[in-house]
Amino acid sequence: MRSILRLLGVARELWPQYVGIVLTSILIAGTGLLTPFIIGAATDQIVAAGQGATDGVTAVLWLAVALLINDLANTVISNYGGYLGDTMAVRLRTALSNKYFAKLLSLPQKYFDNELTGTIVNRLQRSITETTGFLNMFANNFFPMLITVFAVLIISAAYSIWLSLLLIVIYPLFTWLTAITSKKWQALEGKKNAEFDQAGGRFSEVIGQIKVVKSFAQERRELSLFDGNYQRTIGITGEQSRWWHQMDVARRGALNVIFFGVYAIIFVQTVQGAFSIGEMVVLVQLVNIARQPVLSMSYFVDTIQKAIAGSKDYFKVMEELPERPIEEPSDAPAPLALGDAVPAIEFERACFGYTDTEKVLDEVSFAVRRGERVAFVGESGGGKTTLVSLLLGLYSLGKGRVRVGGHDIAALPLEQLRRSVGVVFQDPSWFSGSIADNIAYGSPSATREEIKPWPNGPTPTSSFRPSPRGTTPKSGSAASNSPAARSSGSRSPEQCSRTPRS
Ligand SMILES: Nc1ncnc2c1ncn2[C@@H]1O[C@H](COP(=O)(O)OP(=O)(O)O)[C@@H](O)[C@H]1O
Ligand SMILES: [Mg+2]
Repeated sequence: MRSILRLLGVARELWPQYVGIVLTSILIAGTGLLTPFIIGAATDQIVAAGQGATDGVTAVLWLAVALLINDLANTVISNYGGYLGDTMAVRLRTALSNKYFAKLLSLPQKYFDNELTGTIVNRLQRSITETTGFLNMFANNFFPMLITVFAVLIISAAYSIWLSLLLIVIYPLFTWLTAITSKKWQALEGKKNAEFDQAGGRFSEVIGQIKVVKSFAQERRELSLFDGNYQRTIGITGEQSRWWHQMDVARRGALNVIFFGVYAIIFVQTVQGAFSIGEMVVLVQLVNIARQPVLSMSYFVDTIQKAIAGSKDYFKVMEELPERPIEEPSDAPAPLALGDAVPAIEFERACFGYTDTEKVLDEVSFAVRRGERVAFVGESGGGKTTLVSLLLGLYSLGKGRVRVGGHDIAALPLEQLRRSVGVVFQDPSWFSGSIADNIAYGSPSATREEIKPWPNGPTPTSSFRPSPRGTTPKSGSAASNSPAARSSGSRSPEQCSRTPRS
């Protein structure tokens, strides 16, 4: 529950919406509770008329009019509350999604190496959709209900303290039984989500790299992996649902016994003359109002559990550390000016490993001056790509220094560093849009002239729909991580001790 409140805190700017929802909920509860009293009053009028005491028609008609006005007010207010709940949910969803995306964009490369791309996407879908869906339901249905129940308990205490006590017992009892159910349910839900994440993650990778899948004729294997994940969710859901419904029988059975007591008190006390018929009608209706939320509690608990699990996933990502404390200037910093006085690029006794135990670079030193062209030639897995990644600041160095234009890159704002280094990757990556858009990816304000392949050449404008390639393989699955590649990449690792910078 705390994580749900934290979610609301993430979008603090929505407070007018939150206040509006609280106010409309109180009004919805108020108008809802007036109805039993108006009907109770009408009942007393009818009983009196039956005994010949009054004519009663006018009074009863006026009560019917009061009922109409009250119902109309309830209709309007609950619809306005519904509107507030819907807009709050979509705004919350916008805020949470943006913050999640901003967070992901700020995470170090390492985070993406260790997660399936699709899992990250899936998580956004599930955690945010489920939590905002829950909050929408809470604002539109459950919150007014909670207020109503609270009021019913107070009102019924005014009639009979025993009645009120019996009703009060229901909620903690139900919540306690639900909490017992919840623990096991949540654990199973976690297992199920892991299967969905894995299936979804692999699914995105397969579709994104469908050419590879087809070329190696691995469609059947991919399908069977996917099916395996889903088949396992069937078994888990079976166990989960059996547990849930067994516990629900216990919960609702207890509830039925308590309501037996409640009705017995109302009926007996009416017979004994403690309540008028009108009062009995009021009480029976109030009890019914109190009963409704308990019956929909199972659905509510089900939704809240999903939302709690979802919000935990959300905060797990939000708690990851960004790649470098963000104190960068708000305007895009200018690229570094490169002169001839110092090397354009300089590696000085650079040590690096992706893990603490494996060294990829060991005391590597070299310098490249302006205008020089240098080729690194080496076997696969030798560390050539790693050199480029380090130059871009995608990973932080163990020991040693990397300088660009004489500046230690560890002290440069990452954005400035990356704007100063041009890079062409081994694997092409395309975004949707035109070829021109793709050429100008690093400089969206480039003019058509600037993106021409040669002076007076054609402007590449044709639109195309490329497949979103360039997905990062999960570390450990790439061919470069084969034992052969690994052994060739490590040379006397004891010379370097890694001192990772956070
Ligand atoms: N993201 C990564 N996580 C863990 N190990 C990696 C990662 N990327 C590369 N490696 C390992 O680092 C070593 C150097 O890889 P790389 O720089 O890609 O070599 P090259 O580009 O010369 O083929 C290899 O042993 C490779 O398995
Ligand atoms: Mg490489």
